[in-house]
Amino acid sequence: RPRLLSGMQPTSGSLHLGNYLGALKQWVALQDTHEALYCVVDLHALTVAPDPAELRERTRWTAAQYVAAGIDPERSALFVQSHVPAHAQLAWVLSCLTGFGEAGRMTQFKDKSAKQGSDSTTVGLFTYPVLMAADILLYQAAEVPVGEDQRQHLELTRNLAQRFNSRFGDTFVVPEPFIPKETAKIYDLQDPTAKMSKSSSSPNGIVDVMDDPKVTAKKIRSAVTDTGREVLYDPVEKAGVSNLLSIHSALSGRTIAELEADFAGRGYGDLKKELAEVVTDALGPVRARATELMADPGALDELLAAGADRANEIAERTLATVYDKVGLVGRA
Ligand code: TYM
Repeated sequence: RPRLLSGMQPTSGSLHLGNYLGALKQWVALQDTHEALYCVVDLHALTVAPDPAELRERTRWTAAQYVAAGIDPERSALFVQSHVPAHAQLAWVLSCLTGFGEAGRMTQFKDKSAKQGSDSTTVGLFTYPVLMAADILLYQAAEVPVGEDQRQHLELTRNLAQRFNSRFGDTFVVPEPFIPKETAKIYDLQDPTAKMSKSSSSPNGIVDVMDDPKVTAKKIRSAVTDTGREVLYDPVEKAGVSNLLSIHSALSGRTIAELEADFAGRGYGDLKKELAEVVTDALGPVRARATELMADPGALDELLAAGADRANEIAERTLATVYDKVGLVGRA
């Protein structure tokens, strides 16, 4: 079975619908066909300078939502990035293969650093994609399920793998991105030209997995649409409605064409009402289960420790090979 790895940052107490549809829901399905490793990338989250107590809390909440959504810790290794030291260690080696200009061309870095200004932009934010490459290459992952926003980071990861292989001999599997078109980019409900994102301008544009159903329904009701009345999929002219249709389709399993036919002659209000039900039906059980899991943090921590053991075994082997290939003397 091909191996895959993916991760999310614990930058909020709740994942949002973009994380859920673009990543987590795929992760759950891929467990059937792949040997999967899923991590909570807490080291990456340090780039946003979180409050320490909040980071600790959010790391557990993120893991709890993985399990609640259907990641099965018996089948898949579920772990916290910082529990596997090899991530940071391999990142150093890879950073010595990454061009300064190459890292500087990452659009997420450019966007974030432009917003922050150079005095508050950290070296960590700059080398963030190198750490992400290490996450993936350590496990010889063949595929990486992510949203569209991670495509460029995956491209860098592939380049680094190929560069290492050609300089030091075949070592890394060159990973492929796994980005299903339908859910590659879920848009902000208040600004359907922007991706749904934790750093979004209005909290009303983001549907959180842990939101109360009433809040979810309200956010969907106030989603921005257009001045027309027909429920049709047209991402250019009807970005808002199209986003609502994509979300409906991804959760209900019905095709866009079926939904268009179903809503023919009905208005946006009907679509929103039904979508609110579809979303709260899908997320309700996840929310309930995550809350249950968080009531017993000891059990959750044990599960994460077991996942870290499995991950460590693979990661240490890769790291030892890498250290040897680049010429570091092994310890007697
Ligand atoms: P992060 O934490 O920002 O997001 C987690 C996952 O959710 C996807 N995603 C979306 N998909 C569709 N529509 C959206 N609006 C949307 N917003 C977010 C992201 O693409 C991602 O798959 N750098 C990564 C975390 C990471 C990682 C890795 C991923 C670190 N190491 C190794 C894969 C493999 C990130 O910041 O994702």
